[in-house]
Parts: sequence; structure tokens; C-alpha cells
Amino acid sequence: MSDQLIIFDTTLRDGEQSPGASMTKDEKLRIARQLERLKVDVIEAGFAASSNGDFDAVKAIADAIKDSTVCSLARANDRDIARAADALAGANRARIHTFIATSPLHMEKKLRMTPEQVLEQAKQAVRYARSRVGDVEFSPEDGYRSDVDFLCRVIEAVIAEGASTINVPDTVGYAIPELYGNFIKTLRERIPNSDKAIWSVHCHNDLGMAVANSLAGVKIGGARQIECTINGLGERAGNCSLEEVVMAVKTRRDYFGLEVAIDTTQIMPASRMVSQTTGFVVQPNKAVVGANAFAHASGIHQDGVLKARDTYEIMRAEDVGWSANKIVLGKLSGRNAFKQRLQDLGIEMESESEINAAFARFKELADRKSEIFDEDILALASDESVTAEKEQYGLVSMSQRSETGERPHAVVVFTVDGKEMRGESDGNGPVDASLKAIESHVKSGAEMVLYSVNAISGSTESQGEVTVRLQHGGRVVNGVGADPDIVVASAKAYLSALNKLHSKADRVAAQG
Ligand code: KIV
Ligand code: ZN
Repeated sequence: MSDQLIIFDTTLRDGEQSPGASMTKDEKLRIARQLERLKVDVIEAGFAASSNGDFDAVKAIADAIKDSTVCSLARANDRDIARAADALAGANRARIHTFIATSPLHMEKKLRMTPEQVLEQAKQAVRYARSRVGDVEFSPEDGYRSDVDFLCRVIEAVIAEGASTINVPDTVGYAIPELYGNFIKTLRERIPNSDKAIWSVHCHNDLGMAVANSLAGVKIGGARQIECTINGLGERAGNCSLEEVVMAVKTRRDYFGLEVAIDTTQIMPASRMVSQTTGFVVQPNKAVVGANAFAHASGIHQDGVLKARDTYEIMRAEDVGWSANKIVLGKLSGRNAFKQRLQDLGIEMESESEINAAFARFKELADRKSEIFDEDILALASDESVTAEKEQYGLVSMSQRSETGERPHAVVVFTVDGKEMRGESDGNGPVDASLKAIESHVKSGAEMVLYSVNAISGSTESQGEVTVRLQHGGRVVNGVGADPDIVVASAKAYLSALNKLHSKADRVAAQG
């Protein structure tokens, strides 16, 4: 059996299914380029048939990515598979990942199909997918809660039809490591043609065991592909986290004896990019990528680490891309240095005028803040979308009055489809007043389900990064805004969320 472990990243598909984490085509493309720098083997770029927007995003990624295989999800029907194949037409290496539910509960209640119908549809889907691309992955959705005899029949049949990767999802995060590992082992032992496929694990984190279950699927079950997401992004409690599973395999090579192609120094840039793009903040004590992951606060630990690093550290911070906050640019930096830094950070801008606009915003920031960090540039690039002409809403200017004992008051000037509006309101605080001033015109009727502020680089001099999550008519969106003035950052985040809320989206859920 191969000792190479395939890392299949699904941040842009399963991760994006997390309510509020939906990304624009440009954002997805930027993350895909970072995943390529990270050297993931397979990038699941989206679910091409779910919406025109996702089709375009999969297509853009397939056209741009050269080193990683690009994959699209497709339900087990001809239309979905044809959309996936069309979107992937430009890829160097393309994979179609088709799925259908096989658990009694899903077949009866969700699909309203008999097991025989599901078996036939799975076979036909893989046959058709193979006629469109050479690399086909099949997933029996809710596989872990499926009847093992039936699952063996389905998997044997789809391998015979040409599926070269078999993925066994624990769709609802119900598995326990030992049981999941043995489940995969049993399937591999019982299915006569199991050696014709690479086995893959796909674990959700509802009981906090996605990483442990995935590793058991590899160690006990013999799987050689792990499906995972950056920062563990994903629906509900998320998916198996890429950084944790990769560093477990690397750090405990003595136990797993497996190789991964990942360039681990690209982990932190990927983590930051996903967090800043989606507004999903990484908890400080998160393994590998949390702000405290390598911080030693207790005197005993600090003393130990200074004497011999491995007393309390099993990984080196620099190996996963942590570097002390570097001052990368300042007030005197020129356009070329700025452009180079954008490239180094994997930020692609479509035109020279977009770079010029970003550079002007950088200069504006450098006038207010002497030290500009990578995080500032990433935030500034995400922020560009708020002011970009193609967006419906953009911030022009704002002012607030707040004084002890007085009710705060705000005036916000913003554009709606290029036309200037002026909103005015009181509020509980300056942020509340500013957002109410915008809402007095927009009248979105959206409910705010999350508001959070995070200092990008530590001190009070830093930019504040604000995430606003809005919910309306069954849709949930996140807006992110950054500025040294957190009231301005809040207004930007609110407008960014409105832009997403009002964009035309007609997504079909993968588990729907
Ligand atoms: O969790 C799941 O079952 C999935 C499938 C669509 C592979 O994401
Ligand atoms: Zn999933």
C-alpha cells in the first residue's frame, strides 16, 4: 500500500456551506491559489450545478490552477455531472466527485428512493462521470450510518463502473475513532475489487472528533486520502481541520509512517486568508493556527523552552508559517513594493486600475498607521470589494457625535448603485447609530445575528477587523470590514454584508 497520503481540501465546497461563509468568485480564486501554494493534492473548488456563481468559480479555478487536481461536487444525476464536467473543462487535472445518500434514513426520508433505485443511480452516475473525465470519486452520503451489506454492494458496483476514489463520509459527525477505522477496514476487506480504488475519509466535527476519526480511518482502515478544510471550516461544528491532521501526520511520522506533499510553511497564510475572507475568527487556543498555539505564558514553561525548546514544544512555529509580526511596508514604500507584496501574499488584482485603487488605500492607511503588517494588507485587499464600483453599496464618509450622558448620533454618506445617500440616526453607541443610519435608507429588514471586533495586529494602534453576520429570508451572510477606526470598520462590514445579501444567489445545498 502506498505511503503517500492525499490531502483533499474542501474549504471552497464543504467549508463554504457553513452559513455565512459564502465567498465571491474572486475570493475563491485567491484561496485556491493559496491552496496550490500549500501544495494540496486536490482542491474541491465548489459544486458547479448549485448556482451560476459557483459554476463560474469552479471554472475560474480550473482554468487558473496548474499543480493541484481541481474537483467539483455533483449529485448523482446527469445534469449535475454535465455542469461539473463543463466547469472543469480547462483543468490540467480534473476530478468529478459524485454522491448519493445510502443510509436507510436518508434514502427513505430525504430521497424517497428504494435501495435498488439508489444503487442503479449511483452506477449510472459514475458511468456517465467516467465518460466525461478520467478521475471520478464516489461518496455514499451518510455512509457511516449505512447498512454495511448494502454499502458493500454499492461500492463494489461503482468501482466496477470506474470510480477510482471511494470516500466514506461521516456526514453527521457521529463516528468514534476506533469504530470508524474498523468500518473502513471492514469495507476494504469485504469488497472484492476494493484494491482498485483509493479509500478516502470525510469526517464532520459534531462531537469534536473529526481529526481523530480521520486519522483512525487512515491508521486502522488503510485510507490514503483525507478530506479536510482550512481552520476546520464547515457546516455546524465544521470539517476535519487540514492544519491539525497534516501536522499530526508530520509530527508523528514515527507512528503513521506516511508522507504528505503539503508545504507546511503556507499553513498560517492560508488560515489567515480563510479567516479574513469569511469573517470566521480562529479561536486563540485552536491547535496549530490559534494565536496562543505557540505562546508560553507560565514561567515554568517559558524557562523550559528557553533552555531547550523541545521541553514544551512538539512543533516549530516557523514550520507552520508563524513569523513574528513583520513590518512589511510603511509610508515611504512605493507602488512596486506594494504590488510585489500583494503577489507574495497571493492577492491577484484583475487590472492596473484595481492595483492603483488598492495602493491609494494603502497610502491612506500608512498615513494613519506607521507600521503596516501582512494582516493589514490582506484586510485592505478584502476591503477593496466594499468600495469596488461593481458593488451595490460603498462607504463614502461618516461622522458621529458621542459624549458622556448624551445619546450618540451618526451621519453616514454611502453609495447605492453609484448614487450618494445620506443616512442619519441615534443609537445606543456610535456603532449602533452608524448602522442604523445606513439601515434608515436601505431598509433591508435583515436580522443581525453576529457582531464581532478583532484587533488585527494586537495593539490599540492596530486596525480593527469587524465581522457582521446578517440573516434574511433564509439566507445568512458575513460581511468583513477593517479600519483603524472601529466605527468605520463596522460600517464597512455592514455594507459588505448587504452587498452579499442582495447579490443574486440561487444555491442548492449539497445535503439538500
Ligand atoms: O458530508 C458529506 O456527506 C458530504 C458529501 C457530499 C461528500 O459532504
Ligand atoms: Zn461533508
